[in-house]
Amino acid sequence: METSSKEQQAVNQIEEIFGKHEAYRRAHARGAAYKGLFEGSGEASELTDAAHFQKTEVPVLVRFSHFSPDPTWADAMSPVKGMAVQFQLGPEDVTNIVSVTSPVFFTRSPERFVEMLKVSRSFQKGRPKLAELAELLTDFPEVRAMFSSMKKMTVPESFATGVYHSIHAFYFVKAGNKQAVKYVFEPDAGEDRRALKDMTDLPFGYYEGELAERTSRSPVSFRLYAAIGEADDPTDDPTRDWPKDRERVFLGRLIIDAPDAEAEQALYDPTVMTKGVICSEDPILRFRREAYRTSHERRTAEQQKSGPST
Ligand code: HEM
Repeated sequence: METSSKEQQAVNQIEEIFGKHEAYRRAHARGAAYKGLFEGSGEASELTDAAHFQKTEVPVLVRFSHFSPDPTWADAMSPVKGMAVQFQLGPEDVTNIVSVTSPVFFTRSPERFVEMLKVSRSFQKGRPKLAELAELLTDFPEVRAMFSSMKKMTVPESFATGVYHSIHAFYFVKAGNKQAVKYVFEPDAGEDRRALKDMTDLPFGYYEGELAERTSRSPVSFRLYAAIGEADDPTDDPTRDWPKDRERVFLGRLIIDAPDAEAEQALYDPTVMTKGVICSEDPILRFRREAYRTSHERRTAEQQKSGPST
């Protein structure tokens, strides 16, 4: 019998804990998908030959999302929002940046991710068991930082006003030189945040509706920057952000245009690179490749049976 990989097992566990929602992504299940344009600035051309970072225009697919694997969760239950961008460089050449409204992830190893899923199983039906919560804090000290940051948690008021981080490092490469970078998207509409406690009355699907209304009035856009890593900045640890004062290079402007069905179906695998950019050694980044492919295979097979999720 074929044995399943660690990545497939992780996706199985997500299904066990959050429920199996056929035809949906196994994480970030609900969202809003658009097409648009990326206007490269050319300001990083000394560091990378990547086609989209030259002075150019490239079509893009963009999908905003709520992090929950369960599409029925209220908007406020998903304080972390996502923005996945696919740069369409040519018929056989795409590359993705998958980002969220948090600069850090809660664990640095795929094994810990799976262990944490197991322990958090008790959370699924409302209140976690106290003993298990205590165990989680003792066994996974990195979770403490996440819990304490969640206490002061704020969320963007709109998908259009979040600051989105790639979390992982990548390398720009050119002529034998290698430069570590992290991506950040900043909203042209300005960053706008609300306390999580003020969000609970929002109707289901508020973010999707608000974005549809906003884009029908005027385009929504973001500036994309590369933070330039220095010698001691970790490139393999998504639980640690780099210092805020790192030099940044303006890579270009992302302009969101109109809703798009292809953008909802697309696979935004964060490890798909193009000439001039390579993945860092971050084990979580590398783990994501097969996990995303597993989810994509399942949801597309289910959609062929029953029709798309949206
Ligand atoms: C062990 C770590 C992780 C696992 C197992 C995991 C798993 C998944 C899966 C299965 C999907 C659905 C993919 C699809 O059907 O296309 C997904 C989507 C997503 N994940 Fe992760 N993820 C991980 C880490 C991260 C991190 C560190 C980020 C932060 C940038 C992130 C951000 C997102 C976003 C924004 C989406 C939605 C992408 C879209 O709109 O298609 N994930 N994740």
